[in-house]
Amino acid sequence: MFRSPKSTFALVLFACLAPGVCYAQGYQIGTAATAVEIAGWDIDIRPDGKGLPAGSGNAVNGEETYETFCASCHGVFGEGEGRWPVLTGGEGTLADDRPVKTVGSYWPYASTLFDYIRRAMPFNAPMSLNDQQVYDTTAYVLYMNDIIEEDFELSQDNLAHVEMPNQGGFYVDNRPDVANPRCMVNCADPDSMMMQSSLAGVTPIGHFVEGADAPAASHSGQDELEASKEAERKAAITGEELVAPVAQEATAMSDQAMAGEATYKAACGVCHTSGLAGAPKVDDADAWSERIQQGTDLLIIHALQGYAGAEGYMPAKGGRADLSDEAVTNAVLFMVESQQ
Ligand code: HEC
Ligand code: HEC
Repeated sequence: MFRSPKSTFALVLFACLAPGVCYAQGYQIGTAATAVEIAGWDIDIRPDGKGLPAGSGNAVNGEETYETFCASCHGVFGEGEGRWPVLTGGEGTLADDRPVKTVGSYWPYASTLFDYIRRAMPFNAPMSLNDQQVYDTTAYVLYMNDIIEEDFELSQDNLAHVEMPNQGGFYVDNRPDVANPRCMVNCADPDSMMMQSSLAGVTPIGHFVEGADAPAASHSGQDELEASKEAERKAAITGEELVAPVAQEATAMSDQAMAGEATYKAACGVCHTSGLAGAPKVDDADAWSERIQQGTDLLIIHALQGYAGAEGYMPAKGGRADLSDEAVTNAVLFMVESQQ
């Protein structure tokens, strides 16, 4: 993320003689970042443990911290409340159509767990935990996944040596990022071509294939299926008895949402029907549940003004400046109400 001082120096060398004043002379804006400022950003932890703060923690102490700050979303046993992420279980499912990727079943390095919790959790208050609490909860999540013992003292010195179950499941992918030879003869007519996206080779493709593992033709049917899967998964982890989920009544769409369907088809579907460019697919209830929890107002603001998220870039009004705010709002309501 940072250009090293050395290369900055090289860039502006022609403009100055004394390194200390290069920044000012080179661009005439800003001041050099102080060591303290850089330290505030420089919080990544590498697989070999480099970057870990001094300290240690264990699952015995971690239990309380976890229950206070994490269990409301991730479940007391890491089984996940509602559709919040599952942190435990899933062993042996990676080759399934719908793999359950958890810290235990998927993650290659324990260092990532520490880094991630410290950087991003609790979801509603990232970077609010102190190092001790991060060590303790990291140990607790590893303990819930049967990776370390309850009393194991996880520390700056041994965290990198904790072997994760799926560590051997990763390999270096040295394919080039782009392979796009130009067509010179007998090329397809560009007008007859359709844009498509796929994540072939990254995650089992069955997950993305229309209809795969989705016998339900309607959203409410899909919801029921998801709810029963969640109940099964929870019961498997907690040992609780499986209770049949209560079927939800299909809700009728509001007038606004119905009015938004046409805009959706004309301006949004190109990305949101196909999943192009990382757009959450309109029929992927999982992809929408967390977004909807942010509140429809924020979704509308994002759709109107555009924003860059973790999955990709949502252009303002889907790139269609000609649309009225009302039309875009209605399209969002159509997308949201399609989830019910
Ligand atoms: C308000 C709900 C919430 C709380 C509280 C919360 N999390 Fe999370 N957690 C999330 C969400 C949402 C994600 C997924 C974020 C994403 O993918 O961008 C997540 C992701 C994670 C992941 C990565 C899961 C994976 O396999 O990708 C870990 C590990 C994690 N949280 C640990 C914790 C710990 C430890 C705490 C307590 C200190 C905590 N979380 C508190 C909502 C929460
Ligand atoms: C060029 C592709 C593209 C088009 C066209 C597009 N979107 Fe999106 N949209 C995205 C992507 C990518 C995201 C996910 C960004 C992320 O969260 O990382 C997204 C996310 C969203 C979200 C979720 C916002 C949130 O806060 O989670 C809404 C709502 C949305 N789009 C509405 C619309 C509407 C309404 C239209 C049509 C007027 C539209 N989009 C057209 C690419 C597109």
